[in-house]
Amino acid sequence: MKKPEPKKVTPPSSAKPVSVDPTVFVPKKGMQPIQLVRGMRDLLPSDAPYWKATRDEADTIAAAYGYEWMETPVVEETALFVRGVGKITDIVEKELYSWQTPGGEHLSLRPEGTASVVRSYIQHGMFNQPQPVKVCYYGPMFRHDRPQAGRFRQFYTFGCECIGDGDAVIDAQLIIMAYNFVKELGIESTIKINSLGTSESRANYKNALVSYFRSKRNKLSEEDKKRLLKNPLRLLDSKDPGMQELKAEAPQMVDWLDEESKAHFTRVLEYLDEVGVPYQLDPFIVRGLDYYSKTVFELYAASDDQELAQSALGGGGRYDGLMEILGGRPTPGAGFGLGLDRIVSRLKEKNLVAPPSNQVDVFLAQLGEMGRKKALALFEEFRQAGVPVGEVFAKASIKAQMEVANKRGAKWAVIIGQKEVLDGTAVIRDMDSGNQEIVDAKKVVAEIKKKLGQ
Ligand code: HAM
Repeated sequence: MKKPEPKKVTPPSSAKPVSVDPTVFVPKKGMQPIQLVRGMRDLLPSDAPYWKATRDEADTIAAAYGYEWMETPVVEETALFVRGVGKITDIVEKELYSWQTPGGEHLSLRPEGTASVVRSYIQHGMFNQPQPVKVCYYGPMFRHDRPQAGRFRQFYTFGCECIGDGDAVIDAQLIIMAYNFVKELGIESTIKINSLGTSESRANYKNALVSYFRSKRNKLSEEDKKRLLKNPLRLLDSKDPGMQELKAEAPQMVDWLDEESKAHFTRVLEYLDEVGVPYQLDPFIVRGLDYYSKTVFELYAASDDQELAQSALGGGGRYDGLMEILGGRPTPGAGFGLGLDRIVSRLKEKNLVAPPSNQVDVFLAQLGEMGRKKALALFEEFRQAGVPVGEVFAKASIKAQMEVANKRGAKWAVIIGQKEVLDGTAVIRDMDSGNQEIVDAKKVVAEIKKKLGQ
């Protein structure tokens, strides 16, 4: 049977024509430029020296303490963070960027690096390597948090993880390392430290905390009432002004520590004393991630911005139970993550990084299309010979090119015009005296190197 012809629908005359292919973009007059997504930001070239300084320091310090660089993807299975960071944490409950793929996978942008490193440790059988395995990473993390000073939805951390040994000396050295990282960048920080004990001692402490705060329930904010039910330790983290007095009277974890955790914590502090790294004991440091056990710490630094001064530059601690939570064999681990956006803010505030020098030894100037072609090739020769060389090929006027050459502090300019191309020569100009000489174009690199004493 013949298929009936589809009915033709004639659009009403007032209907606007619709673009057939939605991927075809037709620019319209007066269109607003597209803006950044809220909470995201561009890291601009003007900030490049600060970011480079943090990256260089990360490389230096990681190498000095024997940490090897590794990188995990920014996308992971959501379950990794639900299990690793903890279901009842702000990070997982409120801040995950998660979605379901058409194939049904539940994925998330990583909110932190530790769970991913531990996943990778298990997946790549790193327990077969000599322990502890010491790795570091430098990259973006994503949390859909309320944007404010020092809080972004994409932020960068330098993280270090030491997996496979539970000794207190590891915790101490990680703290020393984090402290030195910011110190060597020129920032004095304060370390706040606490111990959360084992999961058993923590469970006992939680019970004590719950009964204490239950008796004060009518003084708690709605948010804190929820915390009391779901994650009582986080009450100690509450910034609610009314909570400060209540917190001061609350039971403290240190009184509930089991003997082993107490001894471990004492040793961490003794090691810090030995090296002379200052710290403050702070019973309210509980961290916003559930995987911690025993040592936890955070780093703070002064800032002109009050809000910024209250946000940690970094934090970390021991996570001896995380490996099992993620399906691995019991393996202790400890580490830290440093918030580079906040560190860069401090560097900028204090003007701590010198702008990079863009000085060159030689500047290539050109006249006419033939001269430009030859100069473009000569630029590569200089570069390969390791001579710092500058250019501004897009400009045609010699005057404009010489101005840039002066700005960049070039001692010599090499000028190539049409005549020089035809003769196979180049003009070398002494930028101080203005004296010029003509040399064989094939020998110009060697000639400049001779002048530079190379
Ligand atoms: P964290 O304290 O959640 O720890 O994050 C590390 C650091 O990242 C913070 O101290 C802070 O400086 C920075 N940071 C966090 N959220 C933001 C944000 N929204 N905007 C800007 N900076 C932010 C962790 O992530 C753990 N993985 C650290 C660790 C490693 N523990 C053991 N090993």
